[in-house]
Amino acid sequence: MAENLLKGKLGIITGALDENSIAWKTALKAHEHGAKFVLTNAPIAMRMGAIKELAEQCNTIIIPADATSLEDIEKLYAEAKEYLGGNFDFLLHSIGMSPNIRKGRSYGDLNYDWMNKSYDVSAISFHKMMHVAEKMDIMNEWGSIMALSYIAAQRVYPFYTDMADAKALLESIARGYGYRLGKMKKIRVNTISQSPTKTTAGTGIGGFDAFYNFADKMSPLGNAPAEACADYIVTMFSDLTRYVTMQNLFHDGGYSTTGISEELMDQFKDI
Ligand code: NAI
Repeated sequence: MAENLLKGKLGIITGALDENSIAWKTALKAHEHGAKFVLTNAPIAMRMGAIKELAEQCNTIIIPADATSLEDIEKLYAEAKEYLGGNFDFLLHSIGMSPNIRKGRSYGDLNYDWMNKSYDVSAISFHKMMHVAEKMDIMNEWGSIMALSYIAAQRVYPFYTDMADAKALLESIARGYGYRLGKMKKIRVNTISQSPTKTTAGTGIGGFDAFYNFADKMSPLGNAPAEACADYIVTMFSDLTRYVTMQNLFHDGGYSTTGISEELMDQFKDI
């Protein structure tokens, strides 16, 4: 097993809510690989407390920030730079939330204020994080910036409603800023399109169990677990992937390029 892939690297990890969060597993792996980083989450999520345990395990601090607020992001970066003692080599955006999904609204019955909120929290916050990083010139050359996406950005998954559009926007922002920051400072920007994963954000989506099981049967390797996603993120933060940028990288056990699996065909044999 490769060791210390992130030795000496500094960064920010957003979105660790509880031990199921993709960001939580990423923080543990990044720590194992020698990275130093600051944890952050929305002030409301912090009140739940679990993230403090993670900070202890990773020997770091937590700085609350609402990722939709430019002021909060500026304060986060300034305080994190002071704590870490230098500019950043990596940023993880692991943030998603749709009030329409939470309230069970269908695609034809969306509340538009909530839709804007979904976009702001789940996609535009990624733009804001990179905007502030550029303005403060706080990333090192060859740094790596990652966000998490889902295949509903490319194909219709009816229950994913406005999050599908938010993910399409997120992936587009990764390309836009990937070009810009690549030209400016050789910083790479990518999204990982992850298998359905049993987290708070994931299981909040209507019919989650059915599409989790469907994806598992469809993928030759089975659904990719959160730990494996964390490994992939560590690789993407490391120097081993320096020329990968502006990509949406499927981390899904082969799901996205499988037409149908034998297991699924069996279920339709006798109809
Ligand atoms: P999670 O619920 O553990 O993490 C979502 C995080 O977003 C939470 O920590 C929450 O506090 C944070 N957040 C919400 N609003 C915020 C705000 N205004 N400012 C800062 N943080 C805020 O769930 P998970 O699954 O780990 O989600 C991480 C990312 O992975 C999300 O972008 C999600 O859409 C994506 N993803 C998840 C999949 C799944 O099936 N769980 C599949 C593919 C992508």
